[in-house]
Amino acid sequence: MKKLAVIAVVLAALSPPGMAQGWDVPQPSSGLMPNPNVGKPLYEKNCAACHGAALNGSDQGPPLLHKIYEPSHHSDIAFQIAARHGMRAHHWKFGDMPPVAGVSADEVAHITAYVRMLQRRAGIH
Ligand code: HEC
Repeated sequence: MKKLAVIAVVLAALSPPGMAQGWDVPQPSSGLMPNPNVGKPLYEKNCAACHGAALNGSDQGPPLLHKIYEPSHHSDIAFQIAARHGMRAHHWKFGDMPPVAGVSADEVAHITAYVRMLQRRAGIH
């Protein structure tokens, strides 16, 4: 168990890997108030196919209601980078996450607010 915790900390330190590679991090508009109610349908349209309608995962992607994705391990920036650039498989065996075409930084901020709300409800924070 201890070893797992160490691995989680190391992975968290490496995330988001995009930053080390100099990828741009999409910035939501200044003054935007991320709104879970706006994020819900955007999540369902763009993310649910892989991450599950109830954020519980699918055969194509991991659950976002998981301790790995709590804010201290995967910050909101990780969501922006994953949506814009995709993410190479590193925590799971589902394969790489492809970039999600057609979602703006503002939309991802709303989606992230929705994910965080459900994470809090599930006791992940
Ligand atoms: C085609 C399937 C697919 C879609 C669509 C998808 N994802 Fe992913 N996502 C994945 C997989 C697979 C991983 C796990 C990669 C790994 O092994 O760590 C992942 C990982 C992530 C991560 C963790 C990134 C990291 O830094 O480790 C976040 C955050 C994420 N997805 C958010 C989203 C959001 C938000 C959307 C919708 C805008 C979305 N995903 C759409 C498949 C998908």
